[in-house]
Amino acid sequence: MKFSGITASATALMVGVSSAAVTGVTGKPEGFASSTTGGGDTAAVYPSTTDELVSYLGDDSARVIVLTKTFDFTGTEGTTTSTGCAPWGTGAGCQTAIDKDDWCENYEPDAPSVSSITYDAAGTLGITVGSDKSLVGDGSSGIIKGKGLRIVNGAQNVIIQNVQISDINPEYVWGGDAITLDGTDNVWIDHVTTSNIARQHIVLGTEASGNVTISNSYIDGSGDYSATCDGHQYWALYFDGSDDQITFKNNYIYQTSGRAPKVQSNTLLHAVNNYWNDNSGHAFEIGEGGYVLAEGNVFENVEAPLEASSFAGELFTADSGSACSSALRRSCEANSLSDSGTFSESDTDFLSKFSGAVIATASAASEVKSYVTSNAGIGKLSQ
Ligand SMILES: *[C@@H]1O[C@H](CO)[C@@H](O)[C@H](O)[C@H]1NC(C)=O
Repeated sequence: MKFSGITASATALMVGVSSAAVTGVTGKPEGFASSTTGGGDTAAVYPSTTDELVSYLGDDSARVIVLTKTFDFTGTEGTTTSTGCAPWGTGAGCQTAIDKDDWCENYEPDAPSVSSITYDAAGTLGITVGSDKSLVGDGSSGIIKGKGLRIVNGAQNVIIQNVQISDINPEYVWGGDAITLDGTDNVWIDHVTTSNIARQHIVLGTEASGNVTISNSYIDGSGDYSATCDGHQYWALYFDGSDDQITFKNNYIYQTSGRAPKVQSNTLLHAVNNYWNDNSGHAFEIGEGGYVLAEGNVFENVEAPLEASSFAGELFTADSGSACSSALRRSCEANSLSDSGTFSESDTDFLSKFSGAVIATASAASEVKSYVTSNAGIGKLSQ
């Protein structure tokens, strides 16, 4: 074993990293983003510096960008010092909020103020991603630290696969999001790991983000700081919008405490075959205009699979009737819950919104936990 390992790395050195590394995306998206092609079959580029990565992601060319190492943005834009507040307490595990745009005065006027917070400036705004890009990690080496990605303002046809985004000011709310979509069409996020994030792991903003698939990804909410002060990230997935369609399949949502996801404002979400584990608050928060079909999912140790007090949208938990057969042209799979609260809603009117769409397949919930835990996140893709 040892001898063959040495041989493999010696070969990689001799031929150079670009020949040894992957050259593009593996597989195809299921569901709403199924026509997404990213950078297509253009020749891959292999950035070596953070500046080069920013330039490839933001330019006007179709590109396949392969990451073969860690790109650490921490410190690249210096630090910022500002005031803040502590709405969730001052205990060791509590996040503190940066007073961004007078957020403390406007939303948490009674919270104790914090006179000085110093945070990393690069984390607060993600890297701009242009249209027709594939960003692909090689093996388990494609890591972006200290800065997220922003697919916004009309950028479309983007694939992010087998990449980890981590360590974005985790102590400070408003210190940055991992992946932001806002005003986009056709985005596939696959085999992505997000961890130690200040705010949202994945956020779809108020503009339309159409035809999105998020699959095989690991939303790791564990860490030293959270708004619930218990090592469970409260800000996980925020699906706002105005005309958004999201397929959310085979993802692992671990150790969160809220907004996992929050769904509202004309957002249609097909949540299928995901695994929620160890949630100390709520998973789904569904506001007005949030339309959710949840089938074949597994909830284990989830305090509230649905936050009942704020439920104002529509949810079908696939546990009754023939509604799926007429809307999806197949039957739906039941969800599975253990050591969890209740999850049973039967709104079916909105299922007509799936008409004409490419709909992801569903497996039985009994197969989900083992599949997802061995498949979700970075480094689990056979390239
Ligand atoms: C999603 O794709 C469909 C089919 O191509 C297209 O008609 C629609 O405009 C897209 N949605 C958004 C919000 O871009």
